[in-house]
Amino acid sequence: MTGQPTPKPWIAAIHAYVPGKSRSADGRELVKLSANENPLGTSAAALAARALAVMPSLYPDPDSNALRDALGKLHGIDPARIICGTGSGELLAVAAGAYAGPGDEVLYVRYGFSLYEIVARRCGATPVEAPDADYGTDIEALLGAVTDKTRVVFLANPNNPTGTFMTRAELARLHARLPSDVLLVLDQAYAEYVAPRDDDGGLELAANHGNVLVTRTFSKAYGLAGERVGWATGAPELIGVLNRIRGPFNLGNGAQAVTTAAVGDQGFVTHSREHNAAERARFVAAVEALGNHGLRAVPSEANFVLVLFEGALSAETAHDGLAARGYATRWLPGQGLAHGLRITIGTGKQMDEVAAILRELAEGAR
Ligand SMILES: Cc1ncc(COP(=O)(O)O)c(C=O)c1O
Repeated sequence: MTGQPTPKPWIAAIHAYVPGKSRSADGRELVKLSANENPLGTSAAALAARALAVMPSLYPDPDSNALRDALGKLHGIDPARIICGTGSGELLAVAAGAYAGPGDEVLYVRYGFSLYEIVARRCGATPVEAPDADYGTDIEALLGAVTDKTRVVFLANPNNPTGTFMTRAELARLHARLPSDVLLVLDQAYAEYVAPRDDDGGLELAANHGNVLVTRTFSKAYGLAGERVGWATGAPELIGVLNRIRGPFNLGNGAQAVTTAAVGDQGFVTHSREHNAAERARFVAAVEALGNHGLRAVPSEANFVLVLFEGALSAETAHDGLAARGYATRWLPGQGLAHGLRITIGTGKQMDEVAAILRELAEGAR
């Protein structure tokens, strides 16, 4: 036999998603502050529901009805306007695939979530990056990058890996000036970590406009990254289109049972948010105290902080030094952030240790 199947050129151009590490280069298990998981674990009610899931020998509810009903009740959304996905990652991919293809452009901000480039390329579209403003979204630059080929705009709020946040007014201003035939995918993976008074109004935009899809996940504040469940809301027409191309039976029986119970335990989500806000503030203060060594924390509304290293201590040396002391963090040279480390907010004890290690490394650097 000669020859072999040739992937489409746009697929061949994809660099696979790089997940956060949990082991050091020499194979040691590390405390994982590299994937923005919840250090408090999972709601006890959600764990208990696992045992009650439908038998694994039976196919799950293909439409995740109980979960969509629970989400609809919690957020005041008609379940017909909700779709569930195998992580919100599946929903980002089907949104790009439904509305963009070869010759089209998919737009996002520089230092955006790394999956956006992958889902854009996967459907043959051209990924386009708009310049940032001090690591945050520059509305004018983003709007300036819209062309008549732009079909989808991805915007994470809070953004990963920077943690930066757009206010309700900024988001409304951006949406108002976006052409109505461009789909705005507002990725709210970290929304549950934002104080309710600072809500960015994304769910209202999705409720009132035909070109807004809001995506959310159970992987972060709900502490259910291993179950692979996300959801999205938008106009019924939009949801109907996405339902045609999502995976059939995309949420297993266990995933549906556990996440439905988790929606019912908002106490766990509130506790996770409050813990995160308190520990993040303490950690940011510890980083700011190292300002004379060139360390700086990008303002974050998420469950991680992007620490910039602009002095003698480099981000790479800090990353390696933390790994040597047992902590996995995220160094992102592939995303143009060779001078930054994204550090997930862990327990208080973990953050005290990380801050102490950073101080020692910074004071020892020359
Ligand atoms: C901004 C953002 N969106 C989406 C996701 C995807 O999460 P999942 O597929 O686990 O729902 C992540 C995960 O890190 C993220 O940071």
